[in-house]
Amino acid sequence: MNPTKRIERPRVLIGEADLQRRVSELAQEIDRDYADSERLIAIGVLKGSVFFMVDLLKQVTVPVQVDFFQTTSYGDGTSPSEVRIRKDIDLLIRGADVLLIEDIVDTGYTLRTILDLLRYRGAASVKLCALLDKSTRREVEVPIDYRGFEIEDHFVVGYGLDLADYYRNLPYIGIYDGEMDD
Ligand code: IMP
Ligand code: MG
Repeated sequence: MNPTKRIERPRVLIGEADLQRRVSELAQEIDRDYADSERLIAIGVLKGSVFFMVDLLKQVTVPVQVDFFQTTSYGDGTSPSEVRIRKDIDLLIRGADVLLIEDIVDTGYTLRTILDLLRYRGAASVKLCALLDKSTRREVEVPIDYRGFEIEDHFVVGYGLDLADYYRNLPYIGIYDGEMDD
């Protein structure tokens, strides 16, 4: 990636205040829904979900264990239908209520693969919380239980979402209109 692009400021799609407001609403919903859960595990998909997950879980008050998956990243040249797990979770999830946390659902391949794996391992329940939903891009069906925002088909960065690992630390979601070369 051309380092001069780092100083381009992506234009705001969802501002910081709107993000924080929505995150609080989602945390309240999650708190209500899991009030009686015997064992709740929140599982983030690295690295994109981290910023969202931290803000969300700081506002969740029910006891929750935390773990992470890492899958192959966007645009690395592999077929999107062949999602690889780079880092597996450490916790045993049999019998637990699993809340999977993702930054964005695009084609749906990543989430489909992980959701199937979690069910196969015997989670008592599996729900998905995704900050962003690019539903017009969907190729495989993925039910989203907690959705932050529906967005149009833009390449977005910030609040965890990246371009070549840059921009993750923007406090807002911005639209990247530059060229995609890196
Ligand atoms: P999928 O196509 O639903 O499998 O999405 C896989 C991953 O692609 C997401 O978890 C993101 O990491 C990444 N991704 C999809 N759309 C965007 C985007 O607009 N900006 C940055 N990353 C994206
Ligand atoms: Mg991701």
